[in-house]
Amino acid sequence: MEKILVLDFGGQYNQLIARRVREHHIYAEIKPYNKITVEEIKAENYKGVIFTGGPNSVYDPASPHFDETILDLGIPVLGICYGCQLLAYMAKGKVVSAENISEYGKIKLNVKDSPLFTDVPESSVCWMSHRDYISEAPAGFSPIAYTDMCPVAAMADESRKLYGVQFHPEVTHTEYGQKILYNFLYHICGCSGDWRMDRFVENKIAEYKEKLQGKKVLCALSGGVDSSVAAVLLHKAIGDNLICVFVDHGLLRKGEADSVEHIFRDTFSMNLIRVDAEERFLSKLAGVTEPEKKRKIIGEEFIRVFEDEAKKIGKVHYLVQGTIYPDVIESGAGDASTIKSHHNVGGLPSVVDFDEIIEPLRDLFKDEVRKVGTTLGIPDELVWRQPFPGPGLAIRVIGEITKEKLDVLRDADAIFREEMAAAGLNKTTSQYFAVLTDTRSVGVMGDARTYGRTLVLRAVTTDDFMTADWSRIPFEVLERASSRITNEVQGVSRVTYDITSKPPATVEWE
Ligand code: XMP
Repeated sequence: MEKILVLDFGGQYNQLIARRVREHHIYAEIKPYNKITVEEIKAENYKGVIFTGGPNSVYDPASPHFDETILDLGIPVLGICYGCQLLAYMAKGKVVSAENISEYGKIKLNVKDSPLFTDVPESSVCWMSHRDYISEAPAGFSPIAYTDMCPVAAMADESRKLYGVQFHPEVTHTEYGQKILYNFLYHICGCSGDWRMDRFVENKIAEYKEKLQGKKVLCALSGGVDSSVAAVLLHKAIGDNLICVFVDHGLLRKGEADSVEHIFRDTFSMNLIRVDAEERFLSKLAGVTEPEKKRKIIGEEFIRVFEDEAKKIGKVHYLVQGTIYPDVIESGAGDASTIKSHHNVGGLPSVVDFDEIIEPLRDLFKDEVRKVGTTLGIPDELVWRQPFPGPGLAIRVIGEITKEKLDVLRDADAIFREEMAAAGLNKTTSQYFAVLTDTRSVGVMGDARTYGRTLVLRAVTTDDFMTADWSRIPFEVLERASSRITNEVQGVSRVTYDITSKPPATVEWE
């Protein structure tokens, strides 16, 4: 399989670069610059290496650098932004820091004749974000693009297949960014494009058929995209030797538990154990109002319920985890601090008697997981399901959790989701849901005073959920949702829309 290495220098777009490469049907993997050596790069047979951007200046003593001998391997290199400056620095060019030269945002780019710019017009728009700039290309390199401010907006040593661009080809604001990446991958690295999801599915099924023959595999199915796709993929390979356990903790959305059961048991004829654990969870949560405490209780109870089921099943060979590529990547720039303790199936390995963990999706980005899901024939409603937190509606019911509050929220949330889908916003909005607050407010219905709860609608647009912008939903959609909710859901007297981005807020309310 052809592979491209994305060498991570801490840039904010490192995952985006890898995704763009994969959109061109070439497998890309991200490695922090300090976790791989030139020898390892050589041994991995990469078709090309991309140096990412990064927040530093090459002259900063603490800035990330890389072993210069990488340039002698004969593997094509493309440096982007900081990666381009680093390339210039490594090749002994001149990088200069000058406040008045900084370029941010959309900038007019002029390109010269180069294989990197095949089919790119002489003048177009690119996205820049830099303070330092390359004032002189290093020996052996020629400038191949310029802007009004920047004499070397791109450079190349074509004989050694070393290229650098000061701008960001991976972002959509760069008009011909995709074309430039395509040129690098196909014309310069000589890739042919063998990374296809239908082939991935065929290969994985064949691999697991052989590897897992006669083995028992256990999967915790949440109804989310990742665990569902992992389960169906494995089911195609090993059939009934895959046992799926689906814990209904009573904190799911309206109709969700039945729909999960229907899809997996009826449509896919899978070996599914549904555990109805609503009472168990609600009694543990009774009287608890503190968000972190709720999360902890649910996480722990989930493991206990699963443990009880696992005991009944007994020894299994493999435990499935729905890990995907963004969970695997370590950032070159270090980790962010924990704001909330996210609950997933992390604690299961300690309570299941198994030999090995199996992670069928660990090489895939979310959009690739969705493509695999569609290839496997999983219905759209599941493949395009928005992310849903492990603790479920418990972190969307503010204060104490009761069955009555959960039901109110479920009904209101279902209406909001229906209206979003009817307006065609369900695939373009990253996440949208309702939150039931503990605040009551006075209303009037008919001629009578009401004193119902305040409901919040929340919708965000984001690439990675680390930051998110509140969605500009048309007023008409909000109006329909609000009017339907106050009319159809007993107990809600006021509907509000959350217009806070992340940061400073988070996506979920708790
Ligand atoms: P926050 O609220 O942290 O949410 O801005 C970011 C994304 O993570 C989801 N989320 C969770 N997912 N377990 C999960 O699996 C959790 O405990 C959890 N808490 C938040 C949230 O829905 C959003 O997509």
